[in-house]
Amino acid sequence: MRIYSRILGTGSYLPAKRMTNADLAAELAQQGVETSDNWIVERTGIRARHFAADEQGCSDLATEASRRALDAAGLAAQDIDLIIVGTSTPDMVFPSVATMVQHKLGAAGCPAFDVQAVCSGFIYALTIADAMIQTGSSKRALVIGAEVFSRILDFKDRTTCVLFGDGAGAVVLEASDTPGILATDLHADGKYKDILCVPGHVNRGGILGDPVLKMDGQAVFKLAVGVLEETARASLAKANLTDADIDWLIPHQANIRIMQSTAKKLKMPADKVVVTVDQHGNTSAASIPLALDTAVRDGRIQRGQTLMLEGVGGGFTWGSVLLRY
Ligand code: ACO
Repeated sequence: MRIYSRILGTGSYLPAKRMTNADLAAELAQQGVETSDNWIVERTGIRARHFAADEQGCSDLATEASRRALDAAGLAAQDIDLIIVGTSTPDMVFPSVATMVQHKLGAAGCPAFDVQAVCSGFIYALTIADAMIQTGSSKRALVIGAEVFSRILDFKDRTTCVLFGDGAGAVVLEASDTPGILATDLHADGKYKDILCVPGHVNRGGILGDPVLKMDGQAVFKLAVGVLEETARASLAKANLTDADIDWLIPHQANIRIMQSTAKKLKMPADKVVVTVDQHGNTSAASIPLALDTAVRDGRIQRGQTLMLEGVGGGFTWGSVLLRY
């Protein structure tokens, strides 16, 4: 009999500091950088984002989201036998955020590691956890997407700094004989490295290269819309389902126009797409579990419904997870 992984509980965390577009525009203006609420809303759909406090690291956000997911699942940290974190903004070069979360939750012993697939990080992490549950090596996994992108933004570059925010989302997965995750689909193509990257890195005690986010927005836009449709269709085909079977589309929250274009290609009406980009901005690997938790907690997503989660990010990486909630 096939073993499935089912979502037992979800949780998320946003840092307290909320910046509306007007707040950000006022702050940027002091540095001579001009932007406006109008421009940001029109091109991206973003109205506000949250930024972590100076003393908060990625692992702090991830730990809070995990506590909430464990509470929702009715479990303690000691019940978990696997922790995977999708992130590109870890507290340190090493050790991983996952081991820090494990310790902060008061647990020890189970495997814990990070996955680096940028905005597809949560989709990658969920797929790996699902595979480990299917092989029997894990029974209850904590899967997290957590980011502090504010640490890698260039606040003099208005084409990128208005797009991103900080946050974390988590799910508890459990082995089950009923679905569960129905299909997963992952891809990457390294030739697109330069259209979205943070080229700087630690080298001999200093930073070599520019350690802030660089993006060719139009190239990213075109690529994202195409691959998101392909991966959604691939997961549907693997599960012998069609787009008509999807109750909720939960895409990576980068930009409302990318999400609308993808939804149109999948013939999903706008009210079946979970949108949080307006309030969270783009939180990279955290965006999908944040959106999922938001729609679970406000009662839109119900048990037994079919969800399509899909992400795309630097690398380029992309993928989807089709599941019965
Ligand atoms: N405020 C005001 N004006 C701005 C801003 C800003 N924040 N940013 C750029 N502009 C100006 C530009 O300077 C330019 O002015 P010019 O015509 O005088 O030169 C004008 O606006 C148009 O700039 P474009 O870059 O052509 O704007 P575009 O319509 O392409 O929108 C955007 C830019 C929103 C980034 C778009 O390309 C996009 O949505 N790309 C997708 C990228 C994305 O969402 N990335 C997220 C990360 S990737 C991921 O998560 C997968």
